[in-house]
Amino acid sequence: MRDLLKALDALESEATAALGGADEAALESLRVRFLGRRGALTSILRGLPELPPESRPVVGQRANAVKAAIEGALEARRAALTAAARVGLAADRLDITLPGRPPMLGGLHPLTATLQDILEIFAHLGFAVAEGPEVELDYYNFEALNIPKDHPARDMQDTFYISDEVLLRTHTSPVQVRVMEAQPPPVRVVVPGKVYRRDADVTHSPMFHQVEGLLVDEGVTFADLKGTLTAFVRLFFGEATRLRFRPSFFPFTEPSAEVDISCVICRGAGCRVCSESGWLEILGSGMVDPEVFRFVGYDSERFTGFAFGMGVERIAMLRYGIDDIRLFFENDLRFLEQFHAA
Ligand code: DAH
Repeated sequence: MRDLLKALDALESEATAALGGADEAALESLRVRFLGRRGALTSILRGLPELPPESRPVVGQRANAVKAAIEGALEARRAALTAAARVGLAADRLDITLPGRPPMLGGLHPLTATLQDILEIFAHLGFAVAEGPEVELDYYNFEALNIPKDHPARDMQDTFYISDEVLLRTHTSPVQVRVMEAQPPPVRVVVPGKVYRRDADVTHSPMFHQVEGLLVDEGVTFADLKGTLTAFVRLFFGEATRLRFRPSFFPFTEPSAEVDISCVICRGAGCRVCSESGWLEILGSGMVDPEVFRFVGYDSERFTGFAFGMGVERIAMLRYGIDDIRLFFENDLRFLEQFHAA
């Protein structure tokens, strides 16, 4: 009996050791070798009938335990191999030979690019950048710009009022007043910013951007205005661009002029964009009205100045040949991606 028990012990340790390191293909042959009909366990138990009857149950029980242990080791090994295979499959799903996905590169919005270019040109001409509030007092947006309460420019159609005295600024001109209130001459600023008007169609948006300009000093003349705007237009639209100063009216400038440039599409020959006129209006301008100087306490006998205001959307539309202002605000990537190189 002792020999048989020893043989069973040896079988158990041999089998569990062999199964612990077996691969998938070896598992079945090991099972046959240890547990098969002609396997090791069976051959040990062949010695059972030779034992005295009272010893047989002891060996039989031990044999059953060894069998269970080997079956357990087999099952455990099979489960471990399956789990490992699953991990391997998941890892294989990553095909590192595929080309990578290029990261999406952002670009400047065409309005941002246009605004930056405008400001850069004026920076070269010596203009500092100033800013003011979009929620503005009636006083700065109208009153101090020589637009009294009953002036037609205050048409309710155009202005978003918040209260009687507070509104969304309709232009960047109020910042002229704020800058002059805050500092004595000389002044040389450009003012970029959002403005708001109750207006919406293919060329008007309720929110759009302007760049205001203001230069005040002793001895400033209309020639300085013409020279400055001519320099700007040539730098922005190209040397060949021609300018035309058309007499106009703004309450805060006297005299006032609107500036046209030769059509950037047809170069002046006449086309749909310029309504066959060959000219495109791009900004309003003029010599600062002495009445505005009176509001800010500047001495209009000693100082003169010029001012101008332009719409950024309009200039970007002309520059890129865009015919619908709403494209700027829809954030459609198919539209925006076309300006990446711009
Ligand atoms: N503020 C005017 C507008 O929004 C534009 C303008 C015209 C600004 C003449 C000026 C100027 O500074 O001198 O239509």
